[in-house]
Amino acid sequence: MTSKENLTKVWDKYYEKSKKNYILKDDNFFKLEIQAISDQISFYIKKNKRPLKILELGSGSGYLASIICTKIFKKSQYHYLGVDFSQQGINKANKRKIKNCSFIQSDFLDFFSRTKENFDIIITQRSIMAIMNNTDEKKLLNLIRDHMKQNSVGIFSEVTIQAFKKLQTLHKKLGLEPIEKVWHSHHLDESFIKKIFSHSEMIDYSSTYWLITRVIYPYFEEPKHNSLIHSFASKLLQSGDYGMVKLFLVKK
Ligand SMILES: C[S@@+](CC[C@H](N)C(=O)[O-])C[C@H]1O[C@@H](n2cnc3c(N)ncnc32)[C@H](O)[C@@H]1O
Repeated sequence: MTSKENLTKVWDKYYEKSKKNYILKDDNFFKLEIQAISDQISFYIKKNKRPLKILELGSGSGYLASIICTKIFKKSQYHYLGVDFSQQGINKANKRKIKNCSFIQSDFLDFFSRTKENFDIIITQRSIMAIMNNTDEKKLLNLIRDHMKQNSVGIFSEVTIQAFKKLQTLHKKLGLEPIEKVWHSHHLDESFIKKIFSHSEMIDYSSTYWLITRVIYPYFEEPKHNSLIHSFASKLLQSGDYGMVKLFLVKK
């Protein structure tokens, strides 16, 4: 069951069921991720004081959009466009009534086939990894590059094949249960980023967090969700390269 209709149904169900503002189970990781994305956007705004066009691919329920638009852009001139194939996600996002922000229900590839617009910032939050095959993943990355301006930035927070394998290998070595891979995630191949973009940087913003919560904690006891250990780990300096989700900064 990997057709686009089925995938859309899976996401629709998430948004229908979820009472939370967002869908992730791991609250502390989510905060680290939002902080990492926000920091990069703030940095870009400081250097580029002009009206900005931002595109978020996979805007879901509009949670990230609401944080970025209300806390980061504040008085800057901007327009934020969110694209998602889940109508349930789009409905939730529209209900937020975020200033200077609009949402379009579309598959990513279909969206790019219809638009000629270029964007200053293109953001993804675990949505490139939801593309289910290498051909479409490469196609999407090429389209993102083609819709960037010369000094645009791409900010992608994604689980990579390489990062997943690294943690999985450590689990095996320590005799821990394998990390579960959800069937509707394909994960991002880091080598595609290097090949497709002229410049790329990878930031591991949650390595300490993953090591403590996904390796050390389950080694000693049956882990619970959102425990004190998760909260503790999120407050430490994040160093090393054990994060399963990496932040990519790319240039055209
Ligand atoms: C982790 S969620 C992003 C959450 C979002 N940033 C938020 O704040 O709620 C990933 C999103 O990508 C969307 N998505 C995955 N594959 C897609 C595709 N091919 N076209 C359009 N949307 C897609 C899903 O519907 C989902 O909402």
